[in-house]
Amino acid sequence: MGNFLAGKVVAVTGAGRGIGRAVALCAAAEGASVVVNDYGVSVDGESPASEVAEAVVKEISAAGGEAVAVADDVSTMAGGQRVVDVALSSYGRLDGVVCVAGILRERMLFNMTEDEWDPVVATHLKGTFTVFRAASAVMRKQQAGTLIGFTSGNHQGSVSQANYSAAKGGIISLVRSAALGLNKYGVTANAVAPVARTRMSAGVPMSLAEIGEPEDVAALVVYLLSERAREVTGQVYTVAGPKIAVWAQPRELRAAYASGGWTPETIAEFLPGSVGVDPMPMLSQVAGMERAAREGERPNA
Ligand SMILES: NC(=O)c1ccc[n+]([C@@H]2O[C@H](COP(=O)([O-])OP(=O)(O)OC[C@H]3O[C@@H](n4cnc5c(N)ncnc54)[C@H](O)[C@@H]3O)[C@@H](O)[C@H]2O)c1
Repeated sequence: MGNFLAGKVVAVTGAGRGIGRAVALCAAAEGASVVVNDYGVSVDGESPASEVAEAVVKEISAAGGEAVAVADDVSTMAGGQRVVDVALSSYGRLDGVVCVAGILRERMLFNMTEDEWDPVVATHLKGTFTVFRAASAVMRKQQAGTLIGFTSGNHQGSVSQANYSAAKGGIISLVRSAALGLNKYGVTANAVAPVARTRMSAGVPMSLAEIGEPEDVAALVVYLLSERAREVTGQVYTVAGPKIAVWAQPRELRAAYASGGWTPETIAEFLPGSVGVDPMPMLSQVAGMERAAREGERPNA
């Protein structure tokens, strides 16, 4: 066992499988007491089972670590609150929360139903809000704490996952809002965009050029939870096997000014040659993938 998180209390949602499980195991191995939350559902969010969280608690205990299970659904306010309440009742404080829980319901936008949109946005975006909301109230009083959200490279857009992509974009804005609003209370907020071999990534219909293991992601999360990252806030990091990358802050790319009020006609004259566009990198990537699929190859991403 290391001591990166000695004495800290960390809650991890979606910690029964995949990346969340690796985060919970690594945090416990580094000395944290861990709240292991998992609703125990299938990739599409069905058939909850409480044993999934219990199994990870057993693994942590068997390795000599400290953990407690919460099998609640974090897409409800009560579920998010319970994750935090159990940390306080079991260990008396809460130093970090990591919101990893997620599901997928893929469909092209023009066929997507409300039942495919709502649960996906509720699990990812609201499921991060419910835990951040309850945890930030505790951390504000403690004048310390770390909030970590899980996003995806697909926040840039996704052909058949508009629900997931919109939720993941929302998580980045939620994280940046938390970073801004809680900075004066000593609380940090960051997002992680992983690429790792799990049951979720196994369903992606393309071969991913850069992919790693859940343990790689866990190591980055544990660093972000630690004292060594006290000054890091408002960031989005990708970790994909050997690669770690930081995403740019959103900013205006180019501006131009003209005197007088705008009309559609003056904009049509002025905009193309002055402000222009910022080409969308994923458009050409998608075109290449569609070409490969037509030719019977497994497309690369
Ligand atoms: N694996 C990747 O390459 C990849 C890429 C980009 C983003 N992500 C994100 O990383 C996170 C983890 O993904 P994973 O690949 O480990 O998936 P996974 O399916 O292996 O694990 C997700 C876990 O979340 C749990 N969960 C689902 N809904 C829940 C709810 N309402 N309350 C509590 N728990 C719930 C599930 O039971 C499951 O154990 C997700 O947010 C995912 O979108 C993963």
